[in-house]
Amino acid sequence: MFSNEVDTARTPLTGFAPGALCRVVSDRDKFLGYAYVNPASLISARILTRDPEHPPSKSLLVHRLQVAGSLRRALYEQPYYRLVYGESDGVPGLVLDRFGDVVVGQIATAGMEQLKGDVAEAVKKVIDPRALIWKNDSSARDLESLPRYLEVAFGEPPSEALVEEGGVAFRVPLSGGQKTGWFFDQAANRLALRKYVGGARVLDVFSYLGAWGLGALRAGATEATCVDSSASALELLQASAAANGLRPEVVKGDAFDVMEAMHAAGRRFDVVVIDPPAFIKRKKDIPKGEAAYKRLNQLALQLLDRDGILVSCSCSYHMSADCLLGAIQRAARHVSRFVQVVEVGGQAADHPIHPAIPETRYLKAYFCRAVLD
Ligand SMILES: C[S@@+](CC[C@H](N)C(=O)[O-])C[C@H]1O[C@@H](n2cnc3c(N)ncnc32)[C@H](O)[C@@H]1O
Repeated sequence: MFSNEVDTARTPLTGFAPGALCRVVSDRDKFLGYAYVNPASLISARILTRDPEHPPSKSLLVHRLQVAGSLRRALYEQPYYRLVYGESDGVPGLVLDRFGDVVVGQIATAGMEQLKGDVAEAVKKVIDPRALIWKNDSSARDLESLPRYLEVAFGEPPSEALVEEGGVAFRVPLSGGQKTGWFFDQAANRLALRKYVGGARVLDVFSYLGAWGLGALRAGATEATCVDSSASALELLQASAAANGLRPEVVKGDAFDVMEAMHAAGRRFDVVVIDPPAFIKRKKDIPKGEAAYKRLNQLALQLLDRDGILVSCSCSYHMSADCLLGAIQRAARHVSRFVQVVEVGGQAADHPIHPAIPETRYLKAYFCRAVLD
């Protein structure tokens, strides 16, 4: 519920402490649900349950985790997935990622912060992992005036976890990494890439720990070049590659500069994946962000050999699927390529979409064949 949807004459938002629980009723006093409130946030309340008989409690969290877990267990052979995806799993403000017997959590709201202890107990009860880590260091917390910190909720976590994907065991940092440590949202798209890479030279731009590139090598690519600006990510990528008997080329640098230099040097690839960070974080960044996506796609297309495959991704919610497609098309025209979209991907099934919350659907991946015009 947005703050302008609340009848503040009847219930002044300022009367609530951040994170306080409340009953939500319609203007005709019909019960709508139990929620938690943050008077300081534009999103002033988030529904926890619509069941009038059962106010939020520890057992509600246990139930939510059980329901979320049963979906993931049905879909995944191994325990590497997003176990809880906020509102989409009925637990607003909470993300839990599962790395085998270690769980990494992120809390984005004051309301969930209040329930932190109960969530930890529910995780213990439902999953019983070796350790739970709170990686509460995301910028989203600033919107709720929450401090950023890292904390072990229970257990003795190792410094690194392991994720197995596509026949590769990846080393994943549990504290210094990005987001929770691993981008589970792209897992289905990375597996979809496998059919395009047999005998191919693959360029993995914004590689992070090499999930696309090392996966491609395992699936039969002859070469994989991984580009990222993070030295620590590339160090782990190298370590994972060595442990799996894979030999990628690794380039540290700014993706735009590296791709330009590769183009100038006449390098060509059969498959180029661009999986950038969110260039558009707020609505006002849209024009600048769109230009960056277009430029990036243009650079990628220039590096593709005849009939090569471009995998163009965006995790910016504000960059719509149509806008991204438009950027790809304009980039293709610019470099005289004709693009055929052969596959369209979104976020993996462990990131379900809430039909009433468009922000829960954010990831786009276009698999395009770039033919010479
Ligand atoms: C969305 S993540 C990539 C996830 C990765 N492809 C995967 O599937 O696990 C974005 C990555 O871009 C890197 N990055 C951000 N800005 C960059 C830049 N200008 N040049 C190169 N890498 C950059 C970050 O270090 C991060 O690893």
